[in-house]
Amino acid sequence: MHDFDSNIKLTGVIIFFPQLSFELLESWLANNPEPASFRRNGKSVFRELALFQDYHGLPAFKRALADFMAQIRGNKVSFEPDNLVLTAGATSANETLIFCLAEKGDAILIPTPYYPGFDRDLKWRTGVEIVPIHCKSSNNFQITKSALDEAYLEAQTRNLRVKGVLVTNPSNPLGTTLTRSELDVLIKFISVKGIHLISDEIYSGTVFDSPGFVSVMEVLKNRKLEGSDIASRVHVVYSLSKDLGLPGFRVGAIYSNDNRVVSAATKMSSFGLISSQTQYLLSNLLSDKKFTSNYISENQKRLRRQHDMLMAGLENAGIGCLKSNAGLFCWVDMRHLLASKTFEAEMDLWKKILFQVGLNVSPGASCHCLEPGWFRICFANMSRETLDLAMDRLKTFIYTYNAKKLVYRNATVRSRARSSSLSKWVFRLSFDEREPEESR
Ligand SMILES: Cc1ncc(COP(=O)(O)O)c(C=O)c1O
Repeated sequence: MHDFDSNIKLTGVIIFFPQLSFELLESWLANNPEPASFRRNGKSVFRELALFQDYHGLPAFKRALADFMAQIRGNKVSFEPDNLVLTAGATSANETLIFCLAEKGDAILIPTPYYPGFDRDLKWRTGVEIVPIHCKSSNNFQITKSALDEAYLEAQTRNLRVKGVLVTNPSNPLGTTLTRSELDVLIKFISVKGIHLISDEIYSGTVFDSPGFVSVMEVLKNRKLEGSDIASRVHVVYSLSKDLGLPGFRVGAIYSNDNRVVSAATKMSSFGLISSQTQYLLSNLLSDKKFTSNYISENQKRLRRQHDMLMAGLENAGIGCLKSNAGLFCWVDMRHLLASKTFEAEMDLWKKILFQVGLNVSPGASCHCLEPGWFRICFANMSRETLDLAMDRLKTFIYTYNAKKLVYRNATVRSRARSSSLSKWVFRLSFDEREPEESR
């Protein structure tokens, strides 16, 4: 039986948490005790906060959040607080936007591999369908015009009306940022088709390497499309769950250039508001520019260190990754370890990695990846000790696994010569029974 202690023991399952810089936030709280204790300039604001329930949100918080979003984008673009809709995380922001833009029976196109939660957030209550834009390893999973065209055609074949494209930039699970040329292709596509573009930029503050992050808002600005009809069909989703590592605070937002969407989404946000207490605390924290700029750069530095550590460990274990520059995870290529090129084999390998190696990774199939054998490994908050242990276990596993494959292959050849009357299943099952217990 595995224990799930984060102080890993030799037999424990290694689970990675998406938070690297808690102590920076904790030290800010220690130095700024007033906001967390409902006080302003020595006076209590408890009653004011307890009664505040306006779905437009606290103006000071919206201002601070808009400025923080601009800061993350190197102040190359600015955000208007009035165009922001506050939501309980990006989960709520994405669903609310879909309610605003599409009806039951409509479709949203999403590049694969994508965040598994989209199936729940975009489809369950709205009745909207997701049609995958199949991206492939042959071009590092980049979005192409032909992949977009194919997805659009597939939606039409299924009698679905395409209302938009949703991209995650930086990508979960790839850990890569969209290139300017991909963004250009997307803008052109939505412009020609007259549809919407949702850009989920929840990981925008996690970019730790070049090329830097380019927001779709920056592309609109550079192409002088601000205020245009196209710009009114571009919507950004944001959240503090990843960039500040606060998923439990439930802080998200929609930024839309269409006043009708802002107005409708604001009313719908009643179903998932951010508490006034959280807004008050975070308006103080985000307004501290010295703190935020130090936090962003320190967090990115730490992410880079963690990323490099994982890459080196995987390389040492003979495993490659998609080259990435952002996010909290790596997209790991284990195709060579599959028994066959199928999702059954991927699931088999995933189970082995979970139960025998004790590593909690996500299989590509859960992200709708078209090619079996890719896995997502989260590297945030992984100590050197944890990583070494994880890589040691993985290396031993791969060594034993490959050795077994070889023994199995040789034995199969010998057995075929010996007993062609038995089916492959008889041989495989009897062989497995003789397997030694995996070391854990
Ligand atoms: C791409 C993406 N969008 C949205 C979410 C949901 O975020 P939140 O916790 O803000 O609801 C996640 C969470 O992992 C995500 O990866």
